[in-house]
Amino acid sequence: MSFKKTISYKCFINSKYSCIKYTNYFKIYDQLFKQYRGKKITFVEIGIFSGGSLFMWRKFFGKKARIIGIDLDPKAKQFEKYGFEIFIGDQSKKEFWNKFFKKLGKVDIILDDGGHTNFQQIMTTNLCVPMIKDDGKLVIEDVHTSFIKKNWYNPSKYSFINYSKKVAEDINTRFPVIKNFKYSLRKYIYKIDFFESIVSFEINRKLCLENKFIDNRKKSTSPVEQRNILSEKSIFFKIKKYFNLKSNFTYPIFLINALKLKKYFK
Ligand SMILES: C[S@@+](CC[C@H](N)C(=O)[O-])C[C@H]1O[C@@H](n2cnc3c(N)ncnc32)[C@H](O)[C@@H]1O
Repeated sequence: MSFKKTISYKCFINSKYSCIKYTNYFKIYDQLFKQYRGKKITFVEIGIFSGGSLFMWRKFFGKKARIIGIDLDPKAKQFEKYGFEIFIGDQSKKEFWNKFFKKLGKVDIILDDGGHTNFQQIMTTNLCVPMIKDDGKLVIEDVHTSFIKKNWYNPSKYSFINYSKKVAEDINTRFPVIKNFKYSLRKYIYKIDFFESIVSFEINRKLCLENKFIDNRKKSTSPVEQRNILSEKSIFFKIKKYFNLKSNFTYPIFLINALKLKKYFK
């Protein structure tokens, strides 16, 4: 299906003012935001520019939605006359978000189409995730800036994409025995969607539970770990047999396999 058939594209193309997006974004928007259409939600977009996206989102989400715009540029206030709520401030500043959330409380969706630097995207994630309602989303767009040298000074260890990968590791620490991070969002973020140029964090505190082992027969069994059984053709099997050893050679096998996997990490 062409992106031109999406609901979000139709809202984009009919917007009263200029709006700048990328063609691949529309299918992603439909996928991520369709469930909220027609609902009484609070939607926040960081980055107003010519104002066109405010109209696009109003059309997309419907009359019941509260559409809020944030921008550094005070000129953006002009869009208040159309019924949008506009806040002027810096998306990377704690003081700005403190004031914002004090006034609004928790919100349903935040879409970041602001300055797109590592610092802005990462600070926005850290400061906004705790203030998004359960079943809500923080969607960061234009994350390809994590790979661009000119103006963005990437790739960097501290790029937004690297931060998102760290968050992916972080949510896996809900599994017992895995070492926790000092700075963590794992009690808020249930799911991460990685698309080209867009990362979406789905918030759901109720689902962010510690993972526990469960046995349907309520008695502990020791399953035979097939991965540790050596094939009779294997050199390790022959060594084991010849020297009458107890070892299952799991570590040497792991090392050999790691070398085979190396090419997939290039
Ligand atoms: C790409 S434009 C937004 C485009 C708009 N969303 C659209 O779809 O047409 C980026 C906007 O982010 C704003 N911006 C840049 N840095 C910002 C920051 N640190 N905090 C808030 N807004 C910022 C700029 O003033 C600019 O209006």
